[in-house]
Amino acid sequence: MAALVDSHAHVQMRQFNADRDQVIAAAFADGVARMVAPGTDVPTSRLAIELAERYPGRVFAAVGTHPHDATTLTDAALAEQRELARSPHVVAIGEIGLDYYRNLSPRETQREALTRQFALARELDLPVILHNRESHADMIALLRSEGQGLRGVFHCFIGDQAMARDALDLGFYLSFAGPVTFPKNAELAAVAAWAPLDRVLVETDCPYLTPAPFRGRRNEPRYVALTARHIAEVRGLPFDQFAEATAQNAATLFRLPSLPENL
Ligand code: NI
Repeated sequence: MAALVDSHAHVQMRQFNADRDQVIAAAFADGVARMVAPGTDVPTSRLAIELAERYPGRVFAAVGTHPHDATTLTDAALAEQRELARSPHVVAIGEIGLDYYRNLSPRETQREALTRQFALARELDLPVILHNRESHADMIALLRSEGQGLRGVFHCFIGDQAMARDALDLGFYLSFAGPVTFPKNAELAAVAAWAPLDRVLVETDCPYLTPAPFRGRRNEPRYVALTARHIAEVRGLPFDQFAEATAQNAATLFRLPSLPENL
């Protein structure tokens, strides 16, 4: 069975408080071998690490402050993130980025928080997990001016081929989530089909963005297979081959250790 990696699953969040272990067990049983749980602020980053400690080698954590929460990234919070990010269970800084759609933090504050977390990622030699919504030009400009030497992924990539090209040219991966399965997003699916196979990841972004046909329900890591299956189809690849390639890409980007042998 294909061993998928859900490259972006917020399984530490409160939406899973009632049944977290069952949700994770269901994912493992359905062929999702591993997952990365990104934080959105200091408390959710800490929870991600605690969860990763309970599932060593299967659940990994990322530490970061989301653009919505950029105003919470004080000097003290950044210092705390630095401490948290030294945990061996942490594989990335994220999720971090820009969101000019909802603008829950002022744009200047978002840019400053992003730049400071770029520096943290560089200091700790960790990849970044980027959230980028209606902010593409600024994101690319900031990566070019402040992101030297960084590697990472555009999480839940939504954009056209030119935007994908920008990300790829900077050496970044593209991670596709549930929206790529929606019938109205055929153009996005075409981008997922066009992208180089060695630069594509898949994710759920659960509990959000549930793929078709379960749209509207709470999302879970096991549904990453629906997204992978859809992209494999539009690429004309056997599912197992696509799943294997994306899992390998995730392992490379996040420097995941080899899968435990007793799986
Ligand atoms: Ni997310």
